[in-house]
Amino acid sequence: MKIGILSRQPRSYSTRRLREAAKLRGHTVQVLDTLRFAISLEKQEPDLFYRGRKLPAFDAIIPRIGASITFYGLAVLRQFEQMGIYVPNESIAISRSRDKLRATQAFSRYSIGIPATEFVRDSSDILPAIRRVGGVPVIIKVIEGTQGVGVILAETEKVAEAIIQTLHGAKQNVLIQKFVKESHGCDIRAFVVGDRVVAAMRRIAKPGEYRSNVHRGASVEPVTLTTEFTHTALRAVQIMGLGIAGVDMLESAEGPQIMEVNSSPGLEGIEKATGIDVASAIIEFVEQQVLFPDVDLRQRLRLTGGFGIAEFPVRGMPELEGKTLRDTPLASRNIYVLTIARHDTVVPQPKADDIIQTGDVLLCYGDLRELRSMMPPHKRRKRPRKRTNKEKNTG
Ligand SMILES: Nc1ncnc2c1ncn2[C@@H]1O[C@H](COP(=O)(O)OP(=O)(O)O)[C@@H](O)[C@H]1O
Ligand SMILES: [Mg+2]
Repeated sequence: MKIGILSRQPRSYSTRRLREAAKLRGHTVQVLDTLRFAISLEKQEPDLFYRGRKLPAFDAIIPRIGASITFYGLAVLRQFEQMGIYVPNESIAISRSRDKLRATQAFSRYSIGIPATEFVRDSSDILPAIRRVGGVPVIIKVIEGTQGVGVILAETEKVAEAIIQTLHGAKQNVLIQKFVKESHGCDIRAFVVGDRVVAAMRRIAKPGEYRSNVHRGASVEPVTLTTEFTHTALRAVQIMGLGIAGVDMLESAEGPQIMEVNSSPGLEGIEKATGIDVASAIIEFVEQQVLFPDVDLRQRLRLTGGFGIAEFPVRGMPELEGKTLRDTPLASRNIYVLTIARHDTVVPQPKADDIIQTGDVLLCYGDLRELRSMMPPHKRRKRPRKRTNKEKNTG
């Protein structure tokens, strides 16, 4: 294969290791400076020029896009996607994960741990928000910070409020977040490649510091993750839609809590701490995936007209419940069941003699008119009752 690495730092540890691993596995590699691309758009011909020349063909592009060039970097990556070139981390997934508010919003609807977080605009909403996350000391975090810069621990309400007002005045968006003090300046970094945690480490802040970023002088040690941490990391990466990611989790009293998901995680800390060849795991993943670039189903189906995907829970549907797929009216109506979600598992490609159970969630493809007639009437989603602190503490 011919692999391109989008990076502004050809000599950085991560870029060097990726290049080395790709070469060892028999690929041709070129490190491409993200800012030296020109994006060229014409009818049916999205194209890229590199250092003034037409770009040769690549099979895969591994993006390493630093926070300071997010906008341009993602535009270049998006162009590769338009040209049909495989990228393990898509631009949309990177931008989703880079915005801490957007990412936390996405996590909040699923059953994975996050520290209680608030986002407000009006000054009068600041104090109530601080109290809702559990009061001071409280974490204040700028939305697109990295390397621990922009993460502030405020000890009193007065100081917290003043900091937030000041940041608002400087047009900075900030999150107000519960300070997980029992994590004692440590966090867990799980390095995920595809559907596997390939390596994990604990980062330990230097004395007197609450941020465990390596750039803030933290030390690292290898850890073996519990199933709960592994599961949380994989879920978070799935929700973000990334292929390669570093997931940062706090060890809170209530279990793992996701702080952020990094789409260009560094290799130096994790490889040195664990001795694991993470770079080769990444290249191997790219080799496996290159034949299956992601398909944007929604957009694709919108172009087919009349056909679509729908998901619905099976409840109060006697024509489905307890029946084999063959005996339901689905097949005769040209509705194909792609997956059945049942409790925590998913049955991919169910067979004709699989039995549908009450509570199953069916993901179907078919004629939208037929699908519409199957769907239960639209009900407003019930707001779950907010759990009291006492309930939370008892699980
Ligand atoms: N809610 C929190 N409670 C306790 N520590 C936190 C919290 N949020 C962040 N930290 C500490 O600060 C560090 C940096 O926070 P993070 O959200 O990952 O921002 P960055 O993108 O700058 O790394 C974390 O690794 C962790 O050690
Ligand atoms: Mg971090």
